[in-house]
Amino acid sequence: MGLLLKVFIPLLGLVLAYYFYSAPANFHEEMLRGKRVIVTGASSGIGEQMAYHLARMEAHLLLTARREAKLQKVVERCLELGAASARYVSGSMEDTTLPEVVVKEAENTWGGLDMLILNHIGHSYFNYFNGDVGHVRKLLETNFLSYVAMTTYALPMLKESEGSIVVVSSMAGKTGAPLLAPYSATKFALDGFFSSLRNEFTMDKVNVSITVCVLGYINTENAVRVISHVIHGKPSPKEECALEIIKSGALRQREVHYPPWEVRGMLLLRAISPELLDSLIRSNYNVENIRRT
Ligand SMILES: NC(=O)c1ccc[n+]([C@@H]2O[C@H](COP(=O)([O-])OP(=O)(O)OC[C@H]3O[C@@H](n4cnc5c(N)ncnc54)[C@H](OP(=O)(O)O)[C@@H]3O)[C@@H](O)[C@H]2O)c1
Ligand SMILES: *[C@@H]1O[C@H](CO)[C@@H](O)[C@H](O)[C@H]1NC(C)=O
Repeated sequence: MGLLLKVFIPLLGLVLAYYFYSAPANFHEEMLRGKRVIVTGASSGIGEQMAYHLARMEAHLLLTARREAKLQKVVERCLELGAASARYVSGSMEDTTLPEVVVKEAENTWGGLDMLILNHIGHSYFNYFNGDVGHVRKLLETNFLSYVAMTTYALPMLKESEGSIVVVSSMAGKTGAPLLAPYSATKFALDGFFSSLRNEFTMDKVNVSITVCVLGYINTENAVRVISHVIHGKPSPKEECALEIIKSGALRQREVHYPPWEVRGMLLLRAISPELLDSLIRSNYNVENIRRT
């Protein structure tokens, strides 16, 4: 199974690439110059890296997360890197009033918005489902409902600018990865909501693009700490991941797959044989390293 996973999945990805991969229109960094962008979950991980890329591209940035001290540092670095402007609002997305506060801040400072990057997640455990329904409810608020609320408040400005919404999801939002039931549920919810909304925008001639990001295992500090003792394989770099997300958002693509071959291979296998995909995923887990909590 290990060999299958290493050889078969990338091979499938390659085949799929030939069929489905139309070369994306050329991305130019100038596409982001002077654009007004909100990034959530920007105090660490992929969100922080997206802020740095956008700063280099000379965008205006509004960052948000809970830790004010970290946000201050990220904002400073963004200004050093060349951001047209950079500021932050700190707070928790468990707090149902925060989405409106963040969007209002963009409205008051910029009078508009070009790109909304939704990326934050609340803390998830990596283990067998423990029956804690309260945790699932809270996670739906943080990982899903706050995305809906941010989108709702930002939509008038995005319609005006013919802007873009970027939703950071996961392979766990496309197939039920074990030990991640609550997290996986929130990511499936995002796919359902935003895929439906995209369809409505087309019907309604609303020119706001929606890009859903389907990510594999990325080397952010939190992800590595929580899952590296169980998952085989090397995580992909967060810097490149962040750049691919920004490119796809700017190019108004429907989905971005990163790392591309691995994710596309899994998506194709899911369509052909979901049972085989499930067993491949299970074979990639070191079950003996899971301590039941
Ligand atoms: N890393 C991976 O392997 C991987 C794989 C697939 C998908 N993804 C997706 O990629 C995105 C970023 O992941 P990451 O690995 O970069 O995560 P991360 O490093 O843990 O970053 C999460 C961000 O969300 C913020 N956050 C946490 N709780 C919050 C709350 N209650 N309210 C508001 N903000 C909160 C954190 O900052 P504070 O603590 O300061 O609030 C941080 O800025 C997520 O959507 C994740 O699902 C990651
Ligand atoms: C939608 O908006 C984008 C970005 O402003 C623009 O390039 C494109 O031509 C627009 N499409 C339509 C159908 O108006």
